[in-house]
Amino acid sequence: MCGIIGYVGDQSALDISLQGLRRLEYRGYDSSGIAVVGAGELRTARRAGKLANLEKLLAENPEPDPMPGTTGMGHTRWATHGGPTDVNAHPHIDCTGAIAVIHNGIIENFALLRAELEAGGHELASETDTEVVAHLLEVELAGDPDPDPDPAAVSHPLAAALRRVCRRLAGAFTLVVVHRDFPEVVVGARRNSPLVVGLGEGESFLASDVSAFIAHTREAMEIGQDQVVEARRDGVIVTDFEGRPVQNRRYHVDWDASAAEKGGYPYFMLKEINEQPTALADTLRGRLSPQGAIVLDEERLSAQDFRDVDKVFIVACGTAYHAGLIAKYAIEHWTRLPCEVEMASEFRYRDPVLDRSTLVIAISQSGETLDTLMAVKHAREQKARVLAICNTNGSTIPRESDAVLYTHCGPEVGVASTKTFLGQVAACLLVGLYLAQVRGVLYGDEVAAYVERLQRMPELVERTLGRLEPIRELARELVDAKAVLFLGRHVGYPVALEGALKLKELAYMHAEGFPAGELKHGPIALIEPGLPVLVVVPSPRGRANLHDKIVSNIQEVRARGARTIVIAEDGDVAVEPYADHVIRVPETTSLFAPLVTTLPLQVFACELALARGLDVDQPRNLAKSVTVE
Ligand code: G6P
Repeated sequence: MCGIIGYVGDQSALDISLQGLRRLEYRGYDSSGIAVVGAGELRTARRAGKLANLEKLLAENPEPDPMPGTTGMGHTRWATHGGPTDVNAHPHIDCTGAIAVIHNGIIENFALLRAELEAGGHELASETDTEVVAHLLEVELAGDPDPDPDPAAVSHPLAAALRRVCRRLAGAFTLVVVHRDFPEVVVGARRNSPLVVGLGEGESFLASDVSAFIAHTREAMEIGQDQVVEARRDGVIVTDFEGRPVQNRRYHVDWDASAAEKGGYPYFMLKEINEQPTALADTLRGRLSPQGAIVLDEERLSAQDFRDVDKVFIVACGTAYHAGLIAKYAIEHWTRLPCEVEMASEFRYRDPVLDRSTLVIAISQSGETLDTLMAVKHAREQKARVLAICNTNGSTIPRESDAVLYTHCGPEVGVASTKTFLGQVAACLLVGLYLAQVRGVLYGDEVAAYVERLQRMPELVERTLGRLEPIRELARELVDAKAVLFLGRHVGYPVALEGALKLKELAYMHAEGFPAGELKHGPIALIEPGLPVLVVVPSPRGRANLHDKIVSNIQEVRARGARTIVIAEDGDVAVEPYADHVIRVPETTSLFAPLVTTLPLQVFACELALARGLDVDQPRNLAKSVTVE
């Protein structure tokens, strides 16, 4: 959801902003824009559509340097208020043309503020909620100096004005501001939307995520809720909205710029699919202590807290929700605790029954999904304990949680999640084992045996990836299919949902996932001759009778003319008579099977979308990190 980069230093702010936006474009690509302050001028450039349109606009400018200056910022937009047009593209400026603002989030009280500004004679050019901020800053800078309660706070007037404006805003926002007359500073603020600082040598960066400045510095600082940051060449000053100085955590980013590049692949998604063995291995590495206990990353809860848990809720969105559905099977099986999985956007609106003995597991790749963050806040208000599973160090959801397990998958740029899904599933399995361990439901040696088997999974993932050519061929053959159904049972059911989601996201095809047993209660009416049906078959060595039942389900759809594509483990010959195509995956422990059965479905969706000529990294209408509710 909107990508933001701000810069102050000695390099060209235009170059830094463009580079940053290339890395952030996965967050939104409805329009983009840049503002640069230099030589007493504020220059802006904006264009609807992908970043390439803005680059073209700049390239057409006959001046050798169309935007001179070493202070500036860039924005890539996922539209909320106002369509994706040039006029609605950020940055937005005030009436004097001195102040430029970029924004991620939604300012919920903007209509009221806009009316007030218009009554005061301000002319607003766009339909956005953002533009009010530029004009409010104009008013603040023209008015009285900051009545900050803390006289010790030494602040730039632009930071002080932004604080006063933020105090009037409702909703979610990351704001970054530059001013024509203040080239020494870039100022940012955040509430419920992400903002991190990059601390370089003689230069500072503000960005939605570290990938935007990782080529320049790996030293980062978190910005907390309701804080304003004043970035200068020689460092940053952070205060809360009242002007009180705050000290934030600094951290070193442990991956480098090459991890955020395509590395020879035409698309990030193809690279990320192939990175899955490493992503999984990195997530699992070092998780078992010498005493055989599972290790989380940050634990602000005691073992006793985990022993006191009598119910588990999992909250997440999209792909992370599917990882949560898989976790339910493992957690209930291993711990005998009831476990509910809920879409984060629904959670707090239906009065879930929570108390201090409820454990809420929040799964989020970005750590910024607002629906999930709000579910976390709601859970903590009800005194529940929250454990986050997250891929992004320094993001909000881990900070707002009691304990954290990071998936060490590295940056994921493709908008549709692949490698982080595998990381999330692995992390969920570890959490299930951790709960079983602290509660004494599994013996230490049983936990260790599971972890050891989990640690062999990256090799099986590698082997599976090496044999997916048949599903690629099939995807190309099915390029004109109108719809595809996905069926599964047990942990294969969430895998079927994930397969369908991938196909919707990437190929814009009608795709549905169902529990295979539910088919006869309605969805079977959808079966017509030639309809491709992908079936994720559980191991014949798994739950008694389950395998036989799904074989019957395959027969049922085939009898009605469906084209059956069966994902089955090596040696499972029982499916062959009823499968038009069999895609083989290696044998695994039943609960670990999603780590391999998901792979053919990812590749199927990706290849089919490519065959349709679509951009698999930036599917239409989507954004990787959704920071609005
Ligand atoms: C967006 C993305 C999905 C993702 C979901 C949750 O909708 O398009 O791919 O699964 O957000 O994201 P999170 O960062 O919380 O895992």
